[in-house]
Amino acid sequence: MKAQYLTISYKRFDWSDLPEDYKDLINKSHEAQSKAYAPYSNFKVGTCILLEDGTIFTGSNQENAAYPSGLCAERVAIFSCSAHFPHLKMKVLAITCDLDKLLLPDILAPCGACRQTICEYESRQNEPIKILLKCPGNQVLEFNSIGDLLPFSFKSDALKKVQ
Ligand code: THU
Repeated sequence: MKAQYLTISYKRFDWSDLPEDYKDLINKSHEAQSKAYAPYSNFKVGTCILLEDGTIFTGSNQENAAYPSGLCAERVAIFSCSAHFPHLKMKVLAITCDLDKLLLPDILAPCGACRQTICEYESRQNEPIKILLKCPGNQVLEFNSIGDLLPFSFKSDALKKVQ
């Protein structure tokens, strides 16, 4: 047996050090948060995607009385973005939420299903998507790729042998 270790990397920015274009994405994501339909959890999440041509696409969580029929903000934005602009690459995905409602002191990181979805679209466009997470204390985390949030991911390569 050999213990193995994996390193992930990300950057932590204070708001004052954050590049202006990132500030804009976080602000737009925050605006989108107010459009969430979250009557059951009362927890609003907003997302904002920057496409390679500069187009900005937003999303928010959409809930349902039949709980599993609802969808997270990340997937609302990604699916909608891909449906409208299938040939444009997604460069950055910013995510914000009601930080004061988080019991955890630190971050709202995307759920497993959203990580898997981001992973699929990274593979599809063959280019990483940067992820920005707004944190308490007016800080922002930047991940260069979903690989840092979803190591050992399941990708289409795994299906090659059965196709
Ligand atoms: N939610 C998101 O929209 N994104 C996440 O990354 C985590 C959770 C939503 C789903 C549900 O509407 C509410 O937050 C509570 O789980």
